Amino acid sequence: MIYRSSPKSLRANEASDAAPAVLWSLPVRLDPAVIPVTSAQAILKSVMAPEKTFYLETFGCQMNAHDSEKVIGTLQREGYRQVDSEQEAGLILYNTCSIRDKAEQKVFNRLNDYKKLYKDGKRFGVLGCVAQQEGEKIFERAPYVSLVSGSASYRKLPEMIARLEAGESRITGLDDRQTDETFETEFTARQNPYRGYITIIEGCDKFCAYCVVPYTRGKERSRTYTSVLEEARRIADLGYTEIQLLGQNVNSYKDPEGKLSFAELLAAVAQVSGIRRVRFTTSHPRDFTRDIVDVIDATPTLCDHVHLPVQSGSSRVLKAMAREYTRDWYLERISWIKSSRRPISLSTDIIVGFPGETPEDFIQTMDLLAEVQYDCVFGFKYSPRPNTPALVMIDSIPETEKAHRLQVLLDRQREIQRANYSRHLGETMEVMVEGNNPARAQVNGRSSQNKPVNFTWPSPIAPAPGSYAQVRITATHPNSLVGEAV
Ligand code: 5AD
Ligand code: SF4
Repeated sequence: MIYRSSPKSLRANEASDAAPAVLWSLPVRLDPAVIPVTSAQAILKSVMAPEKTFYLETFGCQMNAHDSEKVIGTLQREGYRQVDSEQEAGLILYNTCSIRDKAEQKVFNRLNDYKKLYKDGKRFGVLGCVAQQEGEKIFERAPYVSLVSGSASYRKLPEMIARLEAGESRITGLDDRQTDETFETEFTARQNPYRGYITIIEGCDKFCAYCVVPYTRGKERSRTYTSVLEEARRIADLGYTEIQLLGQNVNSYKDPEGKLSFAELLAAVAQVSGIRRVRFTTSHPRDFTRDIVDVIDATPTLCDHVHLPVQSGSSRVLKAMAREYTRDWYLERISWIKSSRRPISLSTDIIVGFPGETPEDFIQTMDLLAEVQYDCVFGFKYSPRPNTPALVMIDSIPETEKAHRLQVLLDRQREIQRANYSRHLGETMEVMVEGNNPARAQVNGRSSQNKPVNFTWPSPIAPAPGSYAQVRITATHPNSLVGEAV
């Protein structure tokens, strides 16, 4: 029980093994001599209400980071205050990720550490992909968890929280590709000081052979253009100048009102007054259309960056991965992007060691790196995931070989980036400030191309996150640029 208000529930709680759940921390006293009794009672009732506190830790991708912003806003709306540590919190939540490795095991190990805290009266919820993936099994392995909810059920959070407060201990929100609804809330508690996230599409229907997302985030569903635009305007009103549109596959966006395509939505968001930079992630080569490049060309507010995961340079492996495109199809999209009038920077995701990937397949991936000349590559060793079609494929490539291929790939990519980044030497570019490092007397930020830039600033007061600076590049590294504000 989270929040005890009646003697009946108090007794119920005392009868259990667990210590009572005490979440309040406001020992407020009012003097009846100076405050009339009736109003004192009313005030007492309001201020003596136990304070409800929560701690939320987020793992994984930007989608999870943004989901957490919505969960925080929803909890605050329900009267909860966010605190910085498990110790201070009455309710402890983990927003989990299960995209790779043994993520679920890590979550269970972590939950084990908190057995003791349950005895102190704290309550636990597991949210996100591990919650959806493991479902009610979590209650068996971690009986002190009271709430298990996947992201497709977050719209029911207020109801689930009310049940938690009423003392229920096995609350689930497990939609399992049932829902057609998106999680719409105006109570997003934005945590990022310089970037406003907007989810435009939830879930995924692509079912790539290695990927858990279609099972953990549910079926694909787009928000209406009207609702996305309203959120973009609210973000601008809050003072943000950068927006990032989010989705597992943003290119598959389909406006339920039938008004706008993804490219048109990009243009509309980019025109919101006050917005200077718009980013979007993640794109899927199968659904990436030429009008996206055209709209970037025509719209200065859209950033010079496309993240287009390729996963493999071998058409044979792409087929086994069920990616629904070939190497040539992918390279055609790359040629559209490269023929843009804008200097669009490219980044990608690559999986090495997918079942059946031969040394020749891997060489094709290496050739693709050389051909595309990405500015950033996220490389991963294939890891088998529950429920996925690839699970039944024989994962015969030894871990050492996967690690070797990944190292070869990243070493080569580092050299490509060294050359790419060195071309910026002497250039002056606009950088949006993200933070600063007083020890190094440097401000850090990003260029439109999403390249990290560390630069010196002439005055002792560093510019605020979200502000812009013109920076002249004085040195380059394979992963960052160095410069001075001009
Ligand atoms: N093994 C390794 N990498 C994976 N990814 C997704 N699923 C797996 C998996 N089972 C990678 C893909 C995807 C990125 C977000 O994570 O490259 O684009
Ligand atoms: Fe996973 Fe493929 Fe969907 Fe991306 S497109 S989330 S890799 S299934």
